[in-house]
Formats: sequence, C-alpha cells, structure tokens
Amino acid sequence: MTSFKAFWVISFIAYQAFYAKVNGAKSHVPALYVFGDSGLDAGNNNNLKTLAKANVAPYGIDFNNIPTGRYTNGKTFADFIAIKLSLPFSPPYLGVPEFGRYLVTTGVNYASGACGILNDTKFGECLSLDKQIEYFTSTVMKDLPKHFENKDKLKHHISKSIYLIVIGSNDYSLNYFQHENMEPEEFADYLLEQLASKIKTIYDLGARKFVVGTANQLGCSPSQFCNETINRKVKPSSDKLPVVIQKLQKQLSGSSFVYVDSFNFFNRIRNAPKKYGFTNITKPCYQEGVSLCANREKYYFWDKHGHTTEAAIKIYAKECFSGSKLCFPMNINKLAHSNLRDSHKE
Ligand SMILES: *[C@@H]1O[C@H](CO)[C@@H](O)[C@H](O)[C@H]1NC(C)=O
Ligand SMILES: *[C@@H]1O[C@H](CO)[C@@H](O)[C@H](O)[C@H]1NC(C)=O
Ligand SMILES: *[C@@H]1O[C@H](CO)[C@@H](O)[C@H](O)[C@H]1NC(C)=O
Repeated sequence: MTSFKAFWVISFIAYQAFYAKVNGAKSHVPALYVFGDSGLDAGNNNNLKTLAKANVAPYGIDFNNIPTGRYTNGKTFADFIAIKLSLPFSPPYLGVPEFGRYLVTTGVNYASGACGILNDTKFGECLSLDKQIEYFTSTVMKDLPKHFENKDKLKHHISKSIYLIVIGSNDYSLNYFQHENMEPEEFADYLLEQLASKIKTIYDLGARKFVVGTANQLGCSPSQFCNETINRKVKPSSDKLPVVIQKLQKQLSGSSFVYVDSFNFFNRIRNAPKKYGFTNITKPCYQEGVSLCANREKYYFWDKHGHTTEAAIKIYAKECFSGSKLCFPMNINKLAHSNLRDSHKE
C-alpha cells in the first residue's frame, strides 16, 4: 500500500509537471472544475457499478491509445478548454485516491455518464449533479484547505477558477422522453430551475465564473438523423437558458456567466458539414462490433449513442474559447481574463 501510495504521488506530480512544461505559460485561471455527463466524463464511471463506461478500445484511440473512460476517441471539451487555459486536464474525482486529493489544485472533474440534472435521471450507478456538487463541497471544505495556508488564498483560488457545467441531455433521453408527462415548455422550465438552484450551491461555496450548457439537438443522432419532433421538444431548454442565466447573474452578485448555445451552433455544422471538415455527419465512426472508420477527422459522430468525435469537439472548444458564434455573451478566453469585483469582502 505504501509503495502504491508513493508511486501514485510520484506519477501524479510527474503528470502535473509534464503538462506545466508543455503549456509553458502560467495560467490566468488557477483551476477548471467540471460538472456534467458523458460529454465531459473523464473516467468517474470506471469506478461505479454501471454498463455506461467507455474504458475499452477503441475509445481513447487518439488519447495515446488509452481508454480512460472518455466517451470519445480523443480529448473531451473540458480537456481542450484546460489546454487553452494552460492547465493540466482536470482528473476524475473518483480516479484520484483519497489521500492524494489535496495535491490536485488545478481543478477536478466530477462529470459522470448516464446522469443528469435531476436525481431520478440515471442509468445504472452514476453521479447526479447533486452528488457531483457534494463531492465538490468536499474538495472545497476538506481537500483544498490542506493546500492553502489561509482562507483568503483559498477564496481567491475558488473565485478565479472556471466552473464548466454541461448537463441535461440525459434528463431528456433517460427521463422526460420515457414518460412525457408534461409539456416540453413546462419541463424545460422545471429542468432549468433545478439547474439554477444547483449552480447557486456552487456559487455559495465561492465560485464566480461559470460556463453553462444543456442538451444539444438530441433528435440528431446516428440512429435517427435528424428527428425534428424530438428536436422541437428539446429546444425550449436551449431557448430559455440565456434568460435563466441572465437572471442568475443578476441575482448572484459578483458572478459572471457564459452560456453555450450548442443547439443553434449545430445548425451551422448541419447546414455545411464540409466547411467544418466532415464528409459524413450521420454515420458514427465507430460501429460497435462492426467497423472503425479510417478517417476519424471526417466524422461528426463517434459512436451510435451520439457521442461526438474529437474532431467535432475540437470545433466546439475552439469556438467557445476564442470565437463569437457559440458562447455568449463572451467567450471563455474573455471570461478567464475578466476581473470580477468581489462583493463579499470581509
Ligand atoms: C437529490 O438527492 C440528494 C442526495 O444525493 C438529496 O440531498 C436531494 O435532496 C435530492 N433532491 C431532490 C429534489 O429530491
Ligand atoms: C421521431 O421520434 C418520434 C418520437 O420518438 C417518433 O414517434 C417518430 O416516429 C420519429 N420520426 C421519424 C421520422 O423517425
Ligand atoms: C452518410 O452515410 C450514410 C450511411 O452510409 C448515408 O445514408 C448518408 O447519405 C451519408 N451522408 C452524407 C452527407 O454523405
């Protein structure tokens, strides 16, 4: 056990040093904390009793050929944003041994495949957003204080960090579409109200800079490209998100929000796939048990479940980080450099 401990700590430090060197510059943002579903999971589900895992080849084929639990062939959206912020990848919370958690000061990933905003959204064991926030609370209350010598430094760390929260697809596919016992508008209001109240909990722990996204065009997937009946039912959550975010920003003093409008941005790719480098945006690259496409950059979808290729994810990450067509009212680069006034001076 001791040797395992020592080995783990050494490899973790080596990993941190490796990325610090690769990225060179010091980041403006001390850490990236990640909440979400399979779109952002970096291996939390490997540690849970569930069939919703992505820890077998060819997942990770473009991630040094390591199936880490990421639901794609390469890097996730969170990974790309970390690189752009000159930060190491935020490691999955459940992948870091408890005794090593205090060493992780550049962000943690709590995202978990097959879960959602609502507690009763799940397939097998997974981390609901509430559970993810519970773990984040433990990071803030138990782990980080071991690293920061005083409360001000800890508070500074938390308020300057970026909180990436992209979740909600499973609340439709595994929850709403199983019963449809309310109108789409009504469900969107309920879902976003829940999301807002959970974000408020993260804010109460000291977080100020948020990047928030919900479901993309779920009607568009390799199994039914593109079912507009389904898209129409999901759209209200995308339409209402900006309003909810604006309200939240007003309510939570000193906060700053960016929302990710992937629902509308996807139309650009749908309308001109070739412009974005895709030859086929309907077929998945990886057809389980059948075939793996030769040219992974040319496919939008990675698997039959609608998880996207690294090539597609890279486009979203680049646009949200430095562009103007996906993330509003500013991109992540601008959010990273913004100096928020701290309204909670003691
Ligand atoms: C969801 O579950 C958590 C425990 O993980 C609990 O604290 C919370 O009250 C639940 N929320 C709802 C709306 O039931
Ligand atoms: C679209 O999805 C709905 C709901 O699942 C289904 O009833 C309908 O047949 C689908 N339409 C097409 C064209 O596949
Ligand atoms: C993509 O491939 C599918 C299946 O072979 C085909 O039906 C579809 O027309 C192709 N789409 C494009 C845009 O080439």
